[in-house]
Amino acid sequence: MRAVVLTTYGGPEQLVVSDLPEPAVPDPDGVLVRTAAAAVNPVDLQTRAGLHSAHGAFHPPMILGWDVAGTVTAVGDQVTGFSAGDRVVAMSAQMATGRGTYAETVALPAGIVAPAPASVPLTAAAALPLAGLTAWQALDALALPEGATLLVTGAVGSVGGLTVQLARLRGLTVVAHVRTAEDSERARALGAARVVVGEDAAVLPSGTVDGLLETAGLPRAVAAVRDGGRAVSVVPTRVPEAERGVHVTVSYVQQDGQGLAALGALVDRGDLDVRSAKELGFEEAGEAHRLLEAGGVRGKLLLLP
Ligand SMILES: NC(=O)c1ccc[n+]([C@@H]2O[C@H](COP(=O)([O-])OP(=O)(O)OC[C@H]3O[C@@H](n4cnc5c(N)ncnc54)[C@H](OP(=O)(O)O)[C@@H]3O)[C@@H](O)[C@H]2O)c1
Repeated sequence: MRAVVLTTYGGPEQLVVSDLPEPAVPDPDGVLVRTAAAAVNPVDLQTRAGLHSAHGAFHPPMILGWDVAGTVTAVGDQVTGFSAGDRVVAMSAQMATGRGTYAETVALPAGIVAPAPASVPLTAAAALPLAGLTAWQALDALALPEGATLLVTGAVGSVGGLTVQLARLRGLTVVAHVRTAEDSERARALGAARVVVGEDAAVLPSGTVDGLLETAGLPRAVAAVRDGGRAVSVVPTRVPEAERGVHVTVSYVQQDGQGLAALGALVDRGDLDVRSAKELGFEEAGEAHRLLEAGGVRGKLLLLP
């Protein structure tokens, strides 16, 4: 099978399409998925550059990628929920497990797989797993009551954009922080009640929101939270310092097939919009990394075998 292999830590040029042996049979509790698309996430860029090499269990040569949408081709003896031909999505914690998704066939435990939403093309569904689960789990960690006001930074990014929509569904009033006036319109379309525009967290009014979900790497955004409020960051390298009794935590996304199925159902109900920016071939994986690194991508970059 063809796969995008990271040959050594470094720049996008280290991503090379190679022919590797196809996984032959699934584990007893696993499935084989024929990839329709694998999405590109910031963690792939960080892993490629070696930023996680000190605590990662896997090193090059290896296959990158956390998100996959595709079709089940085989299931293990113990698997009851899926059969060959099913359209599915999954988030695979590549850094911890070594199971990368930039490959024609991916072998995964069935417990982290979910039905793909039927209302979007299968390739577009690859935009959902990592960003959706991150947003969902971070909102769980925030645990704000209905009616509370939530500031979302990076509000038109992958995690931020889904957070805005999911927060609205949870009855929160969303204040969105975005970079440009053009992004302001996007944030309103996603459901933000108010939008603050600017490069710097200094533009945010102090002490006005009940909670913060920080996705842009702007730790000073914590100043916008009221005394005793709550903040969750998904950017572990730039976590806000606790101040004025604000409770600050970091949320790390966890593999979760059931949670992903719930998110897919929201997509099919028309309550959650997944956005893809561009489809590229496996040969263009390096170019996809360059595009994401440059910033300004709105929607997911998808790699198709
Ligand atoms: N903890 C976890 O488990 C977990 C899971 C998923 C993601 N993450 C992390 O979360 C972060 C966001 O991920 P993502 O996939 O949502 O990335 P993304 O799609 O690139 O979104 C980040 C957003 O933040 C915006 N932004 C960055 N700096 C800004 C600034 N100074 N002012 C205004 N906006 C700014 C970006 O705008 P531009 O495009 O214009 O730069 C972009 O819209 C990444 O650091 C990622 O590694 C962590």
